[in-house]
Amino acid sequence: MSSLKKYGLAICGVGRAGTIHTGNCYRNPKVQIKYFVEIDIAKAEQLKNSFGLDDTKVVSVDEIDTVLNDESVDGVIIATVTGAHQELVCKCINAKKAIFCEKPIALELHDTVTCYEMAAKANVPIFCAFNRRFDKSHASVRNAARLGEIGKIHMVRCISRDSPLPSDDYLKISGGIFHDCAVHDIDMITWILDEYPISVFTHAHAFRKSISEMGDVDTVSITMKFASGSIAQIDISRFAAYGYDQRVEVFGELGMLESVNQHKTSTIKSTKDQISRDLILHSFPQRYAEGYASELEHFLDVIEGTPSIVTGKNVMMVSLIASACEESHKCGKPISIDEQNLTFKPSF
Ligand SMILES: NC(=O)c1ccc[n+]([C@@H]2O[C@H](COP(=O)([O-])OP(=O)(O)OC[C@H]3O[C@@H](n4cnc5c(N)ncnc54)[C@H](O)[C@@H]3O)[C@@H](O)[C@H]2O)c1
Repeated sequence: MSSLKKYGLAICGVGRAGTIHTGNCYRNPKVQIKYFVEIDIAKAEQLKNSFGLDDTKVVSVDEIDTVLNDESVDGVIIATVTGAHQELVCKCINAKKAIFCEKPIALELHDTVTCYEMAAKANVPIFCAFNRRFDKSHASVRNAARLGEIGKIHMVRCISRDSPLPSDDYLKISGGIFHDCAVHDIDMITWILDEYPISVFTHAHAFRKSISEMGDVDTVSITMKFASGSIAQIDISRFAAYGYDQRVEVFGELGMLESVNQHKTSTIKSTKDQISRDLILHSFPQRYAEGYASELEHFLDVIEGTPSIVTGKNVMMVSLIASACEESHKCGKPISIDEQNLTFKPSF
């Protein structure tokens, strides 16, 4: 093992997200992947072989205690299906292993609160991977907004349209569009404004039959009102035919900040008939490649004792607000949010 490799990590779940984290751990000279924990052993073996990770052990989820009892494991990356996060988080807390958990920590707010309370008691750090905070463009919009460069903020807009359409198998166990997708936008907006909404209102629809049959929706519009007067809008689709559409706009009294889509190349072709350019990036592994590498660096700092920039309060409030947005869709009414008591109710 190289003397630079200081951190032993285990990766639970090697699907889309786990594969991205594996690549970043592999390329990070400070990390050694000690274990892959999977229910699909063959898939984990294949990933191990594709990276030539001879020293990495592949174990089934039933053998998680072996991983958690291994003193050379400093932290665990949880990238399993959403429904398995909470149990793994609790096990890691009991074993005092630092936690990097894909969003959401748990599907229900009270379970998220329990996880953070347990972690605080055991003095175990949790980093909830809101990866968009680590995107340079989004982060520079946020920093300029917080520095007051466009004065008082009047409006924030997040557009998040996915590409490609996730599989039905994924969608069925995703936790629904509010907890699977909207959480990223809610986190981005509340991070930019540094406050939580006092009320939310949602319109949503399922254009796809299979998604409607799951009781979920694929197209969502959320409006939020903040005590400061700021208004925010979220526009989400499960599928954009032209690529992974990710935009953030902040409008203030002195100007506007934008994080725009990234294209495959920056070439623009102009002729007498038309102007054309490359498509936008296809999906999240390409669009947020740098951000995923940076969030891993942040996790290594968190293992060393740096507080995570994604706090427990942030994660609990995002969960509460996502549930309020879902409730607004279901009851067709605006929902008031009570930050002090972590509750919400229809406004009228
Ligand atoms: N932040 C992001 O950009 C981002 C992007 C994609 C997914 N995610 C999150 O990552 C998580 C995984 O999503 P995905 O798209 O990679 O899903 P996926 O279905 O591609 O992969 C999940 C993997 O977990 C494995 N698994 C299931 N239960 C397990 C358990 N108990 N122990 C170990 N392995 C288990 C499955 O076999 C599968 O290989 C989800 O919670 C999702 O919300 C985040």
